[in-house]
Amino acid sequence: MTARVLLLASGSGSVLQAVLDSKARSAIVAVGSDRSDAFALQRAQHAGIEVFTVDFSDYQERAAWSEALRAAIDHYQPTLIVLAGFMRILDPTTVRAYRGRIINTHPALLPSFPGAHAIRDALAAGVRVTGCTVHWVDEGVDTGPIIDQAAVRVQDGDDEPTLHERVKAVERDLLVSVVTRLIEKTE
Ligand code: GAR
Repeated sequence: MTARVLLLASGSGSVLQAVLDSKARSAIVAVGSDRSDAFALQRAQHAGIEVFTVDFSDYQERAAWSEALRAAIDHYQPTLIVLAGFMRILDPTTVRAYRGRIINTHPALLPSFPGAHAIRDALAAGVRVTGCTVHWVDEGVDTGPIIDQAAVRVQDGDDEPTLHERVKAVERDLLVSVVTRLIEKTE
C-alpha cells in the first residue's frame, strides 16, 4: 500500500515544517487546519502541498465542525493522520474511523502534563526534566499508547517560551523519525 499522510496543524507550524523538510514529504497528500490564519497553511503551500481549512469559528456547533472536518479528511483517504500542533480534540467518530492511523505530538513526557498547557504545567510542577511524546490518538485527551519520547532538561530561569522552544527542537526530530518509520511500514 502507498502511504498517504495528512497533517493537521493550528498554529505556526514549525513542527510541521520539519516533516515537510524530511523524506516523508513525498507521502504527504494534504495539510489541514481549524484556523484559516494558521501560518502552518502558508508553510505547506510554500512546499507545494494541497491545503484545506475547516475553520472552527465558521460553525455554531462542535458536532457540525467535526463532521465537516471528517468529510475533508475522508476526501484524501489518508493512511496516516498526523496532529502536528493541532489544538483541537478530534471527535470520537473520527477517532474510531481512523483508529490506529492517527498520531499526535505532545510537548511533555506523557502521561505527565496532558492538555493544552503542557509546558506551563511542567514549569508549575517544578520538574527538572520534561520532553515530548508521539502517541496514537484514542478517544481521550493525550491518553493513547505511546510510540516514542524524548527528554529535555528544564534550565534555571526557563519560562514558557524558552522551554517550549527547546522542547520543539527535540520534538521536530522525534516526529520526523516516527512518521518516517510508519511510512516505511506501510510501503
Ligand atoms: C508543539 O509543541 C506541539 O506538541 C503542540 O503545539 C506545538 C506546535 O508548535 N501541541 C499541543 O500542545 C497539542 N496539545 P508549532 O506551531 O511551532 O509547530
